Amino acid sequence: MRRAIVLIGALIVGLLGVWGGVQALASTGFGQPGGLPVLPDDRASSGHARPFEVNGVVLVNARHPVAPEYVPELAEPHQLTPAAHRAYVAMVKAAKKAGRTIVWRVGYRSYDTQAEVLASSIETRGSYRAALAYTAEPGCSEHQLGLAVDIAAPKARGLAFADTQEFAWMREHAHEYGFILRYPDGKSDITGIAYEPWHYRYLGVDHARAFGPWSSLTLEEYLGGR
Ligand code: DAL
Ligand code: ZN
Repeated sequence: MRRAIVLIGALIVGLLGVWGGVQALASTGFGQPGGLPVLPDDRASSGHARPFEVNGVVLVNARHPVAPEYVPELAEPHQLTPAAHRAYVAMVKAAKKAGRTIVWRVGYRSYDTQAEVLASSIETRGSYRAALAYTAEPGCSEHQLGLAVDIAAPKARGLAFADTQEFAWMREHAHEYGFILRYPDGKSDITGIAYEPWHYRYLGVDHARAFGPWSSLTLEEYLGGR
């Protein structure tokens, strides 16, 4: 009997030890998607008036929204911030020289437009959950920053874009112009968004260079958190 009590005691102590270890690991980010911790964001008091930044890099996703009123300075005709616009024009020109035609589809989207896009996505995809895999909540889209651009090839858009020579050119060269493929294949557990071969994010060449050609690194991984 005494022996049984000692054994049960040892078992309880052992289980408590394992639980403590699990808790300690969880606080380091282990067990979270990609092992990535949620980055501390103390902008709540400002009503998210400015986008969240990590080491000078803007991060907008479901955890780090930006206020409905936030509107960046935009350059026409592609509706991107002036720096992103200059880089985009240079990239498309270089692609053209290589015989690849990049077709612009979307640059900036306002909070209200994002809400409309989500509503129509819910209708087409059949549920809110299915829509959220491809369309961010209003306030959580990079399109509101003027730093994201959706593109296509002359004869292929959406997922079919991934099978084009234009896509291959982008994967080879976009980083040289400061752009990254923002939602790579197989990384939705980290980004919260399904594979979007058409969506590119302007980071500037200094940061995009770290991603390199055909990279599947996500911005969250690059910044060390979600
Ligand atoms: N399609 C991307 C995730 C957006 O809605 O911003
Ligand atoms: Zn997009």
